[in-house]
Amino acid sequence: MTDDSFQRTDDRFRNLSSVSGATDPAPAPDLEPDFDFDAPFDRAGTGSSKWARADAPGVIPMGLADMDLPGPPAVAEALERRARHRAYGYTACDPAGRTLVADWYRTRHGAVVDPDWVLLLPCGPRTALRILLETVRPQAPVLFPTPEWGGFAQLCRAAGLPYRALPLHLGPGGYRLPRGPLPRPAGAVLLSNPHNPSGTVWPIGAVRGLAAWAADSGALLVSDEVHGDLTHPGRAHPVAVTTADPAHRSHVVTLNSVGKTFNCSGIPSSFALVPDPGLRTRFAEALAGYGLWEGGLLEQTVQQAALREGGPWLDALLAHLAAARTRLTDRLGPAVRSAPRASYLLWLDAAALGLPSADARRALLERCGLEASDGADFGPGGEGSLRLNYALPGPVLGTVLRRLERLERP
Ligand SMILES: Cc1ncc(COP(=O)(O)O)c(C=O)c1O
Repeated sequence: MTDDSFQRTDDRFRNLSSVSGATDPAPAPDLEPDFDFDAPFDRAGTGSSKWARADAPGVIPMGLADMDLPGPPAVAEALERRARHRAYGYTACDPAGRTLVADWYRTRHGAVVDPDWVLLLPCGPRTALRILLETVRPQAPVLFPTPEWGGFAQLCRAAGLPYRALPLHLGPGGYRLPRGPLPRPAGAVLLSNPHNPSGTVWPIGAVRGLAAWAADSGALLVSDEVHGDLTHPGRAHPVAVTTADPAHRSHVVTLNSVGKTFNCSGIPSSFALVPDPGLRTRFAEALAGYGLWEGGLLEQTVQQAALREGGPWLDALLAHLAAARTRLTDRLGPAVRSAPRASYLLWLDAAALGLPSADARRALLERCGLEASDGADFGPGGEGSLRLNYALPGPVLGTVLRRLERLERP
C-alpha cells in the first residue's frame, strides 16, 4: 500500500490489538515505562469522536483536539486498579488532590499556588467555565479575543450572556493581544492561553495587564489554560492567577484540566484556581446545584495518577510534539499564521496552501485525505484558516507531510 492511496484502508491506521483484544496485557509497573510515540497506535473500536469524523477509509483525522498517542501508563494502571474494586459508589473528595495540584504548579511552572484556591471538578473545562459564568452572571458583555476554539461563543450563547468578540491583531510576528484598554463596560474577559487554535503563548506582561484591567473594570479574567501544561520545552507558560499582581488576584481565575495534557478528555475532569474565597464558595455551590461535587471517582483516579506520576511521560511527549511542530512548520512556513509554542495545533492560512479560502477543509480532504478543522468555526478572524492537529505518531506525520506535497503540484 502506498501513502497515496488514502481511499483504501491503510494498515498503519488500523487497530493493532491493544484496544479490543482480549489478550491485552497491562504493563507491569516495575518495567521501564513505555513512552514510544512513534509506534503505530490505532484507536478503532474505542468510539473516538475524532476518528468518527474521518469519513472515508485512509483519511487521517487532524481535526478534533485529542491525541492519537498513548497516554501515560500510570493513568491506565490507576484506572485498572480502581476498576478491580467493584464498589463504584459516591466518593469523598480527597484533599490531597489540592496539594498535588499546588505541587504540580511549583515543579512544572515555578508557580506558587495556595492549595486552598483549588477546586477539583468532576466535569470538563467547558462545563466548569459555563457554570463559573453563571455564578458571576455578568450583566455587561463577556469579552474574548478571536479566533477562539469555539466554546467561548457557544457557551455564552447557551447561558444567555451578552458577549463581544475582539478580533486579534495578526502582524508579521503572529497574533498579539489587544494593546491598551478593552471596551467598557465588561463583565468578564475569557482568555485561551496558550491560544487554541494557534498555539501562541501569550506573554507574561499581556496576562498581567489583562488582570490589572479586569480588576480596574470590576470584571473577572478567566484564563482557560487547558493547553498550558503542553507548552513546548524552552517556553514558560504564564499561569494567570500567579502572574497577576497579588492586588488583582481576586479578579482572576485559572481553569485547567489533565484532559488535554494526558489525553484523557473522555473522562471529564478539570480544576479551577480561584483565589477569591467568596467567589470560590459561590462557584462550588453553583456546581453542587448541578450535582457536581468536588472529587468524582474517575476524576480523582485519573487526575491524581497523572499529576503524581505523569511528569516523565509528559516530558517525553513534549519532546515529541516539539519535533513534530518543527517538521510541519519547516515545510509549511509562510502558511503558518502564528508560531506555535504549545500544544499540538497548527493554524494555517488556506490561501497560502493553495486552497480555496471558502472551501478549504473539503479541498484538503479531497486532495490530501487529511481532515482539518474549518477556521470559520473559530469566530471572527477565523475564516480562510484551517487548524491541523499534529499529535500523531512520527511515521503518520511522515505520511501527512508527503500528502501535503500534493498541494505544491498544480
Ligand atoms: C482551550 C479549550 N478550552 C476548553 C476546551 C473544552 O474541553 P472539554 O470539551 O473537554 O470540556 C477545549 C477543548 O478543545 C479547549 O481547547
